[in-house]
Amino acid sequence: MSLTIAIDGPSGSGKSSVSRRVAAALGLAYLDTGAMYRAATWWCVQQDVDLSDQDAVSALVLELPLEMGVDPSGPTVHVAGTDVGEAIRESSISTAVSAVATNLTVRDEMRRLQRAIIDAERSGGFSSGGGVVAEGRDITTVVAPDADVRMLLTASEEARLARRARDVHGADDAAAVDATRDEVLRRDADDSTVSQFLVAADGVVTLDSSGLDLEGTVDAVLAVVSQ
Ligand code: C5P
Repeated sequence: MSLTIAIDGPSGSGKSSVSRRVAAALGLAYLDTGAMYRAATWWCVQQDVDLSDQDAVSALVLELPLEMGVDPSGPTVHVAGTDVGEAIRESSISTAVSAVATNLTVRDEMRRLQRAIIDAERSGGFSSGGGVVAEGRDITTVVAPDADVRMLLTASEEARLARRARDVHGADDAAAVDATRDEVLRRDADDSTVSQFLVAADGVVTLDSSGLDLEGTVDAVLAVVSQ
């Protein structure tokens, strides 16, 4: 039976690692929608476009040659045939991505692409039975409000900063957390203008992962899915 799971959450909530693990455990496809906004940003930077020029950014993104690989054991992102999986995680992209993600034409186009991927996976793409775990900021509310399971993954600011510091700097000591604070808090503020991801919408189950490790969070999500 096909299953669609939508998971939203802010940076550092652990949603990417958790969603991938949940998808792998259930044999479902995995869609990282943040990676799509990052790929769009990478493409604009690559083409030397001024990110504050809304029309130029829109025009480029409407022609974005993007290919998303949805196998949870090795998700991939290609733009114009180039593997950008690592490049889109660079801090220059993390800093710039909100400028592109707040462009309304970009959002419309990304949501159209995301729905197309989700629909294709629902009827059996990666997974033989059909189904997908899609994660981002507006999946439970706008992209797939009809998902079978909708969850908001939250965590305390302290836990989110420590996770992001480990992801980006490989450590969560005071210096690494400090180096991460600006990026995370500024992105929260910038993203809050276009996507509501800090408060659960009606019918969305909130899971606070602050006191849980990856395994514990995956188990908690799987418990909600099996209800
Ligand atoms: O999830 P990640 O932190 O990689 O997302 C990168 C950025 O993409 C976010 O900061 C946000 O600007 C944008 N985004 C979005 N809507 C989504 C997913 C990500 O606006 N569904």
